[in-house]
Amino acid sequence: MIQMAVLGFGTVGSGVVELIDGNQDMIRRSVAEGIYVKYILDLRDFPGNPYNERVTHDYQDILDDPEIAVICETMGGREPAYTFTKKALERGISVCTSNKELVAAHGPELLQIAARHNCSYMFEASVGGGIPLIRPINACLTQEKITSIFGILNGTTNYIMTRMEKAGISFDAALKEAQERGYAERNPEADVEGHDACRKIAILSSLMCGKTVRYEDIPCEGISKITVADFIYARKMNMAIKLLGVSRREEDGRFYVRTAPFLVRADHPLHSVQDVFNGVFVHGNMVDDLMFYGRGAGKFPTASAVVSDVVECARNIGRNISCRWDNEVLAISDPLEEVFRYFIRIDSARAAAAKELFGKVTYVEADVPEDDGEAFVTGRMAEKEVLSKIEALGGVKQCIRLLQD
Ligand SMILES: NC(=O)c1ccc[n+]([C@@H]2O[C@H](COP(=O)([O-])OP(=O)(O)OC[C@H]3O[C@@H](n4cnc5c(N)ncnc54)[C@H](OP(=O)(O)O)[C@@H]3O)[C@@H](O)[C@H]2O)c1
Repeated sequence: MIQMAVLGFGTVGSGVVELIDGNQDMIRRSVAEGIYVKYILDLRDFPGNPYNERVTHDYQDILDDPEIAVICETMGGREPAYTFTKKALERGISVCTSNKELVAAHGPELLQIAARHNCSYMFEASVGGGIPLIRPINACLTQEKITSIFGILNGTTNYIMTRMEKAGISFDAALKEAQERGYAERNPEADVEGHDACRKIAILSSLMCGKTVRYEDIPCEGISKITVADFIYARKMNMAIKLLGVSRREEDGRFYVRTAPFLVRADHPLHSVQDVFNGVFVHGNMVDDLMFYGRGAGKFPTASAVVSDVVECARNIGRNISCRWDNEVLAISDPLEEVFRYFIRIDSARAAAAKELFGKVTYVEADVPEDDGEAFVTGRMAEKEVLSKIEALGGVKQCIRLLQD
């Protein structure tokens, strides 16, 4: 049997261990000798858990065992995940991870270490949970010039926004509901402020270009300032508000990436991606549009993606599964030059001044309390132009980009 270890026996790690046991017969169709989890590394013991006897608290036990061929890193965070991953790869042990934070920060470096030591670093579960996305991009779309990748990359925020839209509840109430259902963490900042989606679009953009797109360089906005009134106006326009990661290459070479809430028209497939589901659009110059849809998180969907990588590594022991992502940093074009139409909501007192400044706009009528002001949609203009008009107005209540023209 191929022997492996799991680092971190939490939501995803326990899912990996249970899935490998539960679906061993399916796994043996690809890896005839089977796969066995010999060690589980965690800080705690798990009394009463049938896997407790495999738990160790010392990583060295795993590193020193010459039988270990694959490690799953499902601890999360930067350290000690980075050090543990590096040490394993340097010994020729392949590592499969769900840890987007580590992949976004050190992906190309760890890929190179793996290549030098004839093993693999794989991260299917780091973006889109259970949705097969990384491998299709890396294996099925290598012949394509991918010109855009965009989508709903965070299930927690999509759940919150779906509830705000459908039940008409506030952001705070929807967040509380998400926390009660276990979809949002006690500290929800990484999700609601867009950082999680930003890391994922950084990984996807890097794979799209084969170079490094640093998530620190990506403009990032979250959803905490979206209100019920915005959803009322959105419905009136036959649109939904979605937090998207968006990455696109223009023909002249400009390359824009951002994470932000967008208004999405009802005729776009992302409009109907609801609750905790994720949906990702990829456009290739030959294949045209592709859409990937599924559960972006959760114990078994995420474990399924991790185990798909484990199986791939088990079939390639002693060989490197290559991935086109080098550490040359790719400069993102000035986000202030990017052109959109914008939904703007203003104090009624400023409506006349806004009309002067924005010229021809489309007003939106909706049944909202007077305090929520008035709203219109602008023509196409560069971000710097809309920002200077907003400044001249002394601020607006809301400004959301439209995904489509
Ligand atoms: N949950 C999901 O649906 C999901 C989906 C996609 C990706 N991910 C990613 O997958 C990773 C794991 O997520 P998770 O939800 O499974 O987290 P989790 O439930 O908190 O599990 C992490 C486990 O690792 C253990 N751990 C932490 N530091 C350790 C150390 N130094 N040595 C040994 N064990 C350690 C933790 O122990 P303690 O509890 O004692 O700290 C915990 O049991 C994260 O990067 C996350 O972003 C999760």
